Amino acid sequence: MKKKSNPKSWNLSTKLVRGGTLRSNFGETSEAIFLNSGFCYDSAETAESRFNGQAPGYVYSRYLNPTLDMLERRLALVEKAERCCVVASGMAAVFASIMCNIRPGDHLIANKVLFGSCYYIITEILPRFGVEITLVEGGDLNAWAKAFKKNTTHVFVESPANPTLALVDIAAVAKLCKKHKAMFIVDNIFASPLLQQPLELGADVVVYSTTKHIDGQGRTLGGAVLGTEKFISETLLPFHRHTGPALSPFNAWVILKGLETLDLRMERHCDNAEQVAAFLEKHPKIARVYYPGLRSHPQYALAKKQMKRGGNMIAFEVKGGKKGAFAFMNKLSVIDISNNLGDAKSLITHPASSTHSNIAEKQRKSLGITDGLLRLSVGLEDIADLLGDIKKAL
Ligand SMILES: Cc1ncc(COP(=O)(O)O)c(C=O)c1O
Repeated sequence: MKKKSNPKSWNLSTKLVRGGTLRSNFGETSEAIFLNSGFCYDSAETAESRFNGQAPGYVYSRYLNPTLDMLERRLALVEKAERCCVVASGMAAVFASIMCNIRPGDHLIANKVLFGSCYYIITEILPRFGVEITLVEGGDLNAWAKAFKKNTTHVFVESPANPTLALVDIAAVAKLCKKHKAMFIVDNIFASPLLQQPLELGADVVVYSTTKHIDGQGRTLGGAVLGTEKFISETLLPFHRHTGPALSPFNAWVILKGLETLDLRMERHCDNAEQVAAFLEKHPKIARVYYPGLRSHPQYALAKKQMKRGGNMIAFEVKGGKKGAFAFMNKLSVIDISNNLGDAKSLITHPASSTHSNIAEKQRKSLGITDGLLRLSVGLEDIADLLGDIKKAL
């Protein structure tokens, strides 16, 4: 038997390719897909000891299964988290990470600019269960400091936020959370684990939609919650096991394969996005560009401090409001109109009429989600084709 080195000592690319692999007795090279719902036991005593946690092993794929286990181990290594729990979608991750722990009478603070479904959970669902909510201007540290109350138990942040790419100083908010003993959850979906590591910046919990860059090729839905062993095993897993937002093993396998190329893809995503953002900024038909990698981004210094690169997401305003934005989208011939993101294919959406259409117009406008705002997820195509497509459409 070959002696194995400690996966925690591996560099990032090695973790992405090999982390968490569990080989069956057949010695397969690629990870196996275990498409089974249940497991059989040698004896009634074995079943009992697996259920009461005294013996290792799987009991049911709603809880865990070897393919899901490999993905959880790999993601935990990449994120340098003690433990990971994978779930069926990014929204299942967001919902479970908050709901597993929050109680009536608790107070949650979040940044104002949020993905439409995160906004819905926080402003519509949580208040129904007696949770108090405060939304703050994400970039205003005084507003964060003032928002904490005696009953603040949770802080939820999206940074960069969907769709305006507004940032929150994760390390500074983490300090406030520690002081007030609040659980700090960061939705790190726009940055991906390669460009920003919230746990290292002081967050308690990180959530992902693996649907985005981690799969990266538009094939599966999936999500993940990462945190301490104690939080995942004692608080999240009981909620997960009994409410059932389980990830399909097939999706877990696709996502494992996606991780193997994530670092290579993120480099190209960022290279392409930097060039697209610079091009848009100079174009006379563009009113404004929001990209954390541009010097003109109001939080450029913060982006430099907490992100490795600017990412692949760009928001921009085409002159002419909704009419101008729609005319531009309709003229694109390489870039697709789609509300997904983090895909190999470049995708564009009009947040006010799609991903953020559930937010009342007045509120949406106050968040900077104007009628002319577009959100572009820059893909992996040849940059000349992308710039040519945008130029022609403008
Ligand atoms: C910031 C953010 N959080 C959560 C999600 C939800 O992910 P999923 O679509 O996998 O449920 C999205 C999806 O776009 C998102 O942009």
